[in-house]
Amino acid sequence: MEKLNGKKILVAGATGGIGQALVKLLKQSGAEVFVTGRNQEKLGQLASAAGIPSSHQFAADVSRSPEITQLMEAVLSHMGAPEILVNAAGIGIIKPLDGLSEEDFMNSIHTNLLGTFLLVKAILPSMKEAKKGLIINIPGVLGKVPMAGAAAYSASKYGIVGMMQSIREELKRTEIRITNLFLGGVDSPFWDTIDLKVQKEKMIREEEAARSIWFLCQQPASGVVSEMVLQPFNHQAI
Ligand SMILES: NC(=O)c1ccc[n+]([C@@H]2O[C@H](COP(=O)([O-])OP(=O)(O)OC[C@H]3O[C@@H](n4cnc5c(N)ncnc54)[C@H](OP(=O)(O)O)[C@@H]3O)[C@@H](O)[C@H]2O)c1
Repeated sequence: MEKLNGKKILVAGATGGIGQALVKLLKQSGAEVFVTGRNQEKLGQLASAAGIPSSHQFAADVSRSPEITQLMEAVLSHMGAPEILVNAAGIGIIKPLDGLSEEDFMNSIHTNLLGTFLLVKAILPSMKEAKKGLIINIPGVLGKVPMAGAAAYSASKYGIVGMMQSIREELKRTEIRITNLFLGGVDSPFWDTIDLKVQKEKMIREEEAARSIWFLCQQPASGVVSEMVLQPFNHQAI
């Protein structure tokens, strides 16, 4: 296993259910963590709970290119080149097509797909210079299998899979590893705005989802975990 002690890790979506649990695990393992999310207040609360200095937090919207440029400038000047990017930023708009507006569709694409593109594009130059790195995205199970009501969400998440597989082809001569994590339902605030009857008590716990990412961060660099699937025991879609 790779040691996390001293490892420089950028976590996007750090203020979310999975992100917060992950940041705590990474900090406990001695990693140097830089956190980002949109909400400055939530970032501040997370940072003080996890012992992250103010220099290592930056509020940014992943769908806005200038904000991602500023984020990377802050990361490079305060932490240095990240060895790992975990992208846990995302939104879930799950509605039947009749109720799904163009705005819903574009918001899904902007946050989930364009946001991933901008983060990856911003971080790759420093990883290429270091000739190594690890990028973990969370397309989730709905990035691999369909579900009624998930047209916009799945478009964005299947898009991440295709995009990252193409980028992986470009990076074959480097030691930059790409991991797609296919999570099933996780009991997190993600579901709070979704109008669906879900059995949260049967979902994966945030801490368990975070532990799978923490595990991925420690995989030896001689190999690559290109995909990992973690689903609730009672709902195995893959
Ligand atoms: N929960 C599940 O069942 C599940 C299953 C499979 C995959 N996933 C994926 O796992 C990831 C994390 O999910 P979660 O359960 O932790 O969700 P969550 O609790 O709702 O957290 C979402 C995170 O994304 C951030 N975010 C949303 N829009 C953003 C934007 N435009 N710019 C920057 N940050 C933005 C939020 O930050 P702010 O609140 O600060 O804006 C928050 O930190 C998402 O990509 C989700 O699609 C979740």
